[in-house]
Amino acid sequence: MCGIVGYIGELDAKEILVKGLEKLEYRGYDSAGIALGNEVGLTVVKEKGRVADLRSAVDWTIHSTTGIGHTRWATHGVPNQTNAHPHQSTSNRFSLVHNGVIENYQQLQKEHLHDVQMNSDTDTEVIVQLVEKFTKGGMKTEIAFRHTLSLLQGSYAIAMLDADETDVIFIAKNKSPLLVGIGEHFNVVASDAMAMLQVTDQYVELHDKEVVILRKEAIEISTLDGVIIERTPYTAELDMSDIEKGTYPHFMLKEIEEQSGVVRKIIQKYEDEHGELTIDTDVLTAINEADRLYIIAAGTSYHAGLIGKHYFEKIAGIPVEVHISSEFGYNMPLLSDKPLFIFITQSGETADSRQVLVKIKALGYPSVTITNSPGSTLSREADHTLLLHAGPEIAVASTKAYTAQVAVLAIVAYVAAKERGETVVIDLKRELAIAANAIQTLVDSKAEMKQIAHEFLAVSRNAFLIGRNLDYYVSLEGALKVKEISYIQAEGFAGGELKHGTIALIEEGTPVFALVTQKTVSLNIRGNVKEVVARGANPCIISMEGLEEEGDCLVLPKVHALLTPLAAVIPMQLISYYAALYRGCDVDKPRNLAKSVTVE
Ligand code: AGP
Ligand code: GLU
Repeated sequence: MCGIVGYIGELDAKEILVKGLEKLEYRGYDSAGIALGNEVGLTVVKEKGRVADLRSAVDWTIHSTTGIGHTRWATHGVPNQTNAHPHQSTSNRFSLVHNGVIENYQQLQKEHLHDVQMNSDTDTEVIVQLVEKFTKGGMKTEIAFRHTLSLLQGSYAIAMLDADETDVIFIAKNKSPLLVGIGEHFNVVASDAMAMLQVTDQYVELHDKEVVILRKEAIEISTLDGVIIERTPYTAELDMSDIEKGTYPHFMLKEIEEQSGVVRKIIQKYEDEHGELTIDTDVLTAINEADRLYIIAAGTSYHAGLIGKHYFEKIAGIPVEVHISSEFGYNMPLLSDKPLFIFITQSGETADSRQVLVKIKALGYPSVTITNSPGSTLSREADHTLLLHAGPEIAVASTKAYTAQVAVLAIVAYVAAKERGETVVIDLKRELAIAANAIQTLVDSKAEMKQIAHEFLAVSRNAFLIGRNLDYYVSLEGALKVKEISYIQAEGFAGGELKHGTIALIEEGTPVFALVTQKTVSLNIRGNVKEVVARGANPCIISMEGLEEEGDCLVLPKVHALLTPLAAVIPMQLISYYAALYRGCDVDKPRNLAKSVTVE
């Protein structure tokens, strides 16, 4: 899913809408468009490609103080101009943008729109055609809008204009994120406060199955059947510097460099007045009442969850299962008697994870969300939230959120261990500070990482990353970074597992990155490196100080054995970054990807 913006007020809407879409570009998209309303009617401009292409296509002479905008991440219908949003009804009276997936769109089309010529291949167009159908049948627009919504199954964030009522924006939300913003003689709608920080920092969250009738002087929030809802606004705690690149060439490099500061900030945020690490007592109670923790996450957050399991089991003696969200929700394993679910999610909007939260809540189980996004859906709907305090992560490829997740998971496990009277083997606050310094040292070694990237990945079509124990989990994350920004087929692999089949893929020159940070298995993983080298692999050994040997590519500054992922991941982030640059890839907005995947 991507982004929605809308403005209704007294200023010219065009620049506000286009600038708002530019602030949402980081979420990844394939097309963009706006609809402008004025006394003449509705004007729609939409283009496949970048917001810059849309900006060039807009007729800037049109005067309009009401408009909606959209960036699309296609789910139904290829990315092209026709399938781009806004979508118009046949008569062009209505124009609508949508984020999400309408699961029953074909059934609705068959039942209600069999006599309507659809313009696009999208699920979205069904919504706007239904509104037109019902108004033609005599319903007023708002009634037709609500009736249409009552028929929809699936996820939606919607904004709609009516050429006959251009002093209103019709808004609706279910499962996909959407906020309304409040101004002086204007109001806005946006998927993310970032988009409209340009005009206001006052926002109201929308919850599922809510409808908003937005006018420049009034915001009416109600349930689907019209029951009015009063909701207190909040102040978006973002500042423009957080969401600007500044002097950096890419958000990803900026966010890689912020990681040592993020770890230090997390230490501060999770210490009490005595300087002791602590977490919300309700979370601690929930952990102590559980007989097993279930970590649910996707992508990079899943990789952090694997490390979290290691921490909870090794530091606190609590059994943990880690599950990929999209699998768990549809193939739930046998659960323990007293489970606690922990959702790890940078965005707090991942649909695969949210659908699990809905299911386990229906079963009456407790939940904690660890997220970088306060006020997000998974934060609001879980029983408890722990924040990452990493600051907005704009690049699609997650970096600082990952290291923040690892640090917060270590703190939660550490505090839980102390609460349970476990013998705690680490002075975590001190070791995290050391790890923060190690991160900085590695981030300052860009030249070395750039060299390694060119030597090993500049022209490779595939690569392997291997490790054992914690290094295996970091290898999975490193491989995801390589894949998602440089498009190289990279696989993270348990070092000991390669010989059980996959070693058949090793050819002359195949790059194999090996992480050696765990003393207990350092000889084993070096043995695995020998196995692949014997078959022609080009090895790049990244070892921890104290375990290094002659010929290793890179030696990491020493950190506590439990915290090595905080150091080992940095080279993989930077090597991926430089490999992507070398290969001319779009580092911040990789093809096919979205920052917040709010469709299943
Ligand atoms: C990570 O680089 C990717 N952008 C992706 O795998 C991401 O981690 C995943 O979509 C989960 O997102 P979340 O943490 O916001 O739930
Ligand atoms: N499902 C709609 C489409 O494919 C919306 C996708 C989105 O959320 O951007 O056009």
